[in-house]
Amino acid sequence: MADKIVLAYSGGLDTSVACKWLQEQRNYEVHCLTVDLGNLPDIDDARQRGLSAGAVEVDVVDAKEDFLRYFVFPALGANVVYEGRYPLATALGRPLIAKILVDKARAVGAVAVAHGCTGKGNDQVRLDVGVQTLAPDLRIVGTQRENQMSRDEALRYVARHGIAVRQTVASPYSTDENLWGRSIEAGVLEDPWVEPPEDVYAWTKPLDRTPATPTVVEIRFEEGVPVALDGEAADPVTLVQRLTTLGGEHGIGRVDMVENRLVGIKSREIYEAPAAVILLDAHRALEELTLSKQQVRWKNLVAQEYADLIYNGLWFTAHHRDLSEYVRSTQRHVTGDVRVRLWHGTVMILGRRAERSLYSKELATYSDADQFDQSHAQGFIRLHGLQAQVQAHRQLLRERTDLLHLAAPDD
Ligand code: ARG
Repeated sequence: MADKIVLAYSGGLDTSVACKWLQEQRNYEVHCLTVDLGNLPDIDDARQRGLSAGAVEVDVVDAKEDFLRYFVFPALGANVVYEGRYPLATALGRPLIAKILVDKARAVGAVAVAHGCTGKGNDQVRLDVGVQTLAPDLRIVGTQRENQMSRDEALRYVARHGIAVRQTVASPYSTDENLWGRSIEAGVLEDPWVEPPEDVYAWTKPLDRTPATPTVVEIRFEEGVPVALDGEAADPVTLVQRLTTLGGEHGIGRVDMVENRLVGIKSREIYEAPAAVILLDAHRALEELTLSKQQVRWKNLVAQEYADLIYNGLWFTAHHRDLSEYVRSTQRHVTGDVRVRLWHGTVMILGRRAERSLYSKELATYSDADQFDQSHAQGFIRLHGLQAQVQAHRQLLRERTDLLHLAAPDD
């Protein structure tokens, strides 16, 4: 009897080829597993295609809620964005897919798992490392890495095997999408000087077609997690989908960047992530009210480390657990509301309030209600400036130019 393998199956051309190829070239009994992270337009269609490619089954797992609850929202709490801008939608999805692949492999008694990621990208790393950490005994087959079939070869291959791939006109781009965002690369985008053609975008309107009137939304967070829109409780999937639609309508969430892949390649990628951009802005605004200066500073450092860790596929690690425990602890008082205006591609924070806000009007006000005792300021500033004063007099004033940073460049 053939060994069983579980294939991470998207329903697209590459994984349909992979399905057939694993049987034909590697002699596996193929169980296709499609993980729905909010990226499946037509589940029945994907199922049919998998069966036509010879899978013994196509199992579709709805992981949308888990994805948001256990992967996306903790990342939101940490404010992670890779290299300053990418909200990590694709990267956050991979460890969950790895976990579900492993569960499925155990359930059917498979000896291996497979995916169709290329050998040049980050996604192979994330899936391989995920599987390797959760189930070191499972073999991992990267079909595209092993057969390196070109798009044309793949199209001929499906035609030859009578696989029902609907989209035979090759899309000029490589895309990946889930509830948190959409990633687009390849084709003309490979030239970083070329402006992205409008057809790369599917979720966001161009600015010349966004509405003339703004949309104002009130987002409620509880301990750093978004829980309601405009005063109405919303489950994670509904909430994120709603912000994606609203933000997309106003042209919010387009990112065009050249990023550094783990494998050493610089790559030009376009992202569409309206909900992520809105929620990240709103969450930061609420943290401004509820975290101390030191917490915000330290969290920013943690966010960078956390983003790299997610990008580099190291989700299932002790380091991740430690960082996430820290972040979770910082979110204990991040409860409140943020009112945002969505308009012409931008998110404007209009107002914020929190039950345990650190903002004190009595201290900040310039009105009669002022409770800040200004007489303390002078002594405080004396001590604050003491070191600078001593050093200036003993050392720096002797070298006036040095103190004023006026040294000539050739000195
Ligand atoms: N560059 C992004 C990442 O590494 C997205 C990768 C998938 N992109 C794609 N267009 N297929 O997370």
